[in-house]
Amino acid sequence: MIEFCGIELEHQVINASGCFDVLAARQVFGEALVERFPFAAYVSKTVTLAARAGNPPPRLWESAGGMINSIGLPNPGVEVYLAHHVGEYARLGVPLITNVMGSSAGEFAELVERVAEREEVAAIELNVSCPNVATGLDIGADPRGLRDLLAVVRPLTRKPLIVKLTPNTADVAACAAAAEAGGADAVSLINTLRAMSLAPGGHGRPWLGGRTGGLSGPAIRAIALAQVASVAARVAVPVVGMGGVSSGADAAELLEVGARLVAVGSESFRDPAAGSRVAAELAAHFAENAA
Ligand code: FUM
Repeated sequence: MIEFCGIELEHQVINASGCFDVLAARQVFGEALVERFPFAAYVSKTVTLAARAGNPPPRLWESAGGMINSIGLPNPGVEVYLAHHVGEYARLGVPLITNVMGSSAGEFAELVERVAEREEVAAIELNVSCPNVATGLDIGADPRGLRDLLAVVRPLTRKPLIVKLTPNTADVAACAAAAEAGGADAVSLINTLRAMSLAPGGHGRPWLGGRTGGLSGPAIRAIALAQVASVAARVAVPVVGMGGVSSGADAAELLEVGARLVAVGSESFRDPAAGSRVAAELAAHFAENAA
């Protein structure tokens, strides 16, 4: 058992927000998925106050060693999430972490208050790092903005608050320290790196409907490792490390530089069973090293 912000987890591998759709996964794995959920906690796709359709297509581009997404946080809004999704996710039998994003401190506050009312929610992750919407990145890239946000939302709940940091900033450790000083219980990183692709033969025309997107996958793993190491060295709160993890060995490296948990993101799109595979490989890695 692993302790994380007062929550007991069976192991150290969770999913990255937006990278494991339980409803779609059920179609692949059937009810067996609920009987033995691969991740130690389930992190929801980002929830916003109002429903969002997301960015115009195309939304994906396969790049060398990864992909660029410009999804734009499509979601049904907090009312539908609370009415229909929370109960469904609670059935998974692992702690539920709800990821929320507001376009202002006021919106974050409303979301935190609404979500915190639900006992099924074990922790709240604040997405201050989505590169695909106008506002998501600004707060997370600026230590002062983060402190101001935490000053508003921290008093609203006793549930653990995890701040999801952006790699698209000059000093991610300073942002982590600001989140910690504001009362965050944990930080998670990295979200995707802002990136762009051009339409083939398009004479400089961007491929993605949202113009730019976020790069993820193995291409960003070395950057994630460096940023997680620098954040873990700077803050005392637990760190959730992610970015390009596709094996137990990748996960072990993030733990070695100070992460408490590891999240699997893009790899789950390539291999829907990646969560349980990475967790099993990580357990085998520990067993081998203990021998
Ligand atoms: O565009 C998206 O839905 C991605 C969200 C994120 O990177 O946080």
